[in-house]
Amino acid sequence: MSEYYIGLMSGTSLDGIDAALVDFSHGHIRLIDFIYQPFSAELKAVIQQLSKPKTTLTLLDYGALDSRLGHLFAAAVLALLAKTELPSSAICAIGSHGQTVCHAPDNPWPFTLQIGDPNIIAEVTGITTIADFRRRDMAANGQGAPLVPAFHRAVFSHPQISRCIVNIGGIANITVLSTEPKASIIGFDTGPGNTLMDQWIQRHQPCDYDVNGRWASGGTIKPELLQRLIQDDYFKLAAPKSTGKEYFSLAWLEQQGSLVDWRPKDVQASLCELTALSISQAVQVYAPACKELLICGGGAHNDFLMTLIRQKMHCPVLSTHAYGIHPDHVEAMAFAWLARQTHNKLTGNLKEVTGANQDVILGGVYV
Ligand SMILES: Nc1ncnc2c1ncn2[C@@H]1O[C@H](COP(=O)(O)OP(=O)(O)O)[C@@H](O)[C@H]1O
Ligand SMILES: [Mg+2]
Repeated sequence: MSEYYIGLMSGTSLDGIDAALVDFSHGHIRLIDFIYQPFSAELKAVIQQLSKPKTTLTLLDYGALDSRLGHLFAAAVLALLAKTELPSSAICAIGSHGQTVCHAPDNPWPFTLQIGDPNIIAEVTGITTIADFRRRDMAANGQGAPLVPAFHRAVFSHPQISRCIVNIGGIANITVLSTEPKASIIGFDTGPGNTLMDQWIQRHQPCDYDVNGRWASGGTIKPELLQRLIQDDYFKLAAPKSTGKEYFSLAWLEQQGSLVDWRPKDVQASLCELTALSISQAVQVYAPACKELLICGGGAHNDFLMTLIRQKMHCPVLSTHAYGIHPDHVEAMAFAWLARQTHNKLTGNLKEVTGANQDVILGGVYV
C-alpha cells in the first residue's frame, strides 16, 4: 500500500514552483516524481513588488496575488498528477509552503507570511491541503524557520558520520546532524544563499542568475569588500536565527559602503565568496567535527560557489545527489514530509532549531 504526499515549494529566489510526489510507505521516503513550473517574468515582478518593505501595492493586489498563486500551486499539482497518471484520491495530502512575501521574526510583533491560498489548492485538486506551516512555530515563540532540519535528519542522518546539510536557496540554511545520540539538533539560516548574487547579476546582465557562477568566476574576490560584508551582525548572531530577502537585499549591500571602485563582476565574485564564507564559518562554529557537507538547493549547481566552499572545508563537500536525492528536490520533499507529520498529528518543527517553546503540530488543514 502506497502512502503518497505532495510537497509544493516556491522559495525566495522566485524562480518558480517545485512539486514533489513522495511515497512514505514501509518506513521509506521515496520520490515518485517531480515537476518544476517556472514563474513568468511578469509574475516575478508582482511578487517582488509586494515583498518590498514599503510597497505601493494595495490590499486588493495582495489578495489577487494570493488567489493567483493558489491557482498556480493547484495547477502544479494537477500537472504532477497527470504526469504520474494518478487520481487525486491516491494522495493523502498536499503540503504547500506558499510564497514568502514577508519574514519578520524579530519584529516587535513577530510576523511571517506565505501566500498562495490553500482553500483554492484544496478546492481545485480535491486533495486535503496543509499550509501556513511557519506561523504556528512563531506563535510558540520560534523563528518560524528553518523547518527543513527535521526532514534532513529523517533522510540524511548517519549513526557514525557527522554531517551538515546546507540548502542554498535565496537564503541558505544549515542543519547539523551530529553522531552524538544526546546532542540536540542545530539548524539556522546562515545568511544569503543566491539572493544577493541573483539581484546583482540582474542589475548588470540580461539574465536571472549567474549560470554555473561563470560571471563571478571571471571576477576577482575583493578582500576589502568581503571584510565589510562579513562584519554584519547577522553573521555573529548566535543561533537560533533566521533571515530573509527583506534584510539581505541590494539596499543592504549598498549600505555597506560604495561599490563604485569595483567592477560589477568583482562584486559578484565577492558576493559568491560571502555565501561560501558564511557557510564555512557556520560549520566551523557549530559543527567542528563535521565529516561530510551535503549541499542542496539551486546553489548546488553553481560550480564557482561549490569550489569556494570546498576550498574552505576540511571534509568532502557533496551534492545531496550522492545520497540519492537530487538537490532540487529536497525542499519540496520536505514539505511533503511536513504535511505527513501534520496529517498524522505529529510535530514538525524542532524547538532547538527555531527557538520555539515547544515542538508543535504545524499548519492549517484545508480538508
Ligand atoms: N546552473 C546554475 N548555476 C548557478 N546558480 C543556479 C543554477 N541553477 C540554479 N541556480 C540558483 O539557484 C536559485 C534557485 O534555487 P532554489 O533552491 O530554487 O531557491 P529557492 O528555494 O529560494 O527558490 C536560482 O535563483 C539561482 O540563483
Ligand atoms: Mg526555487
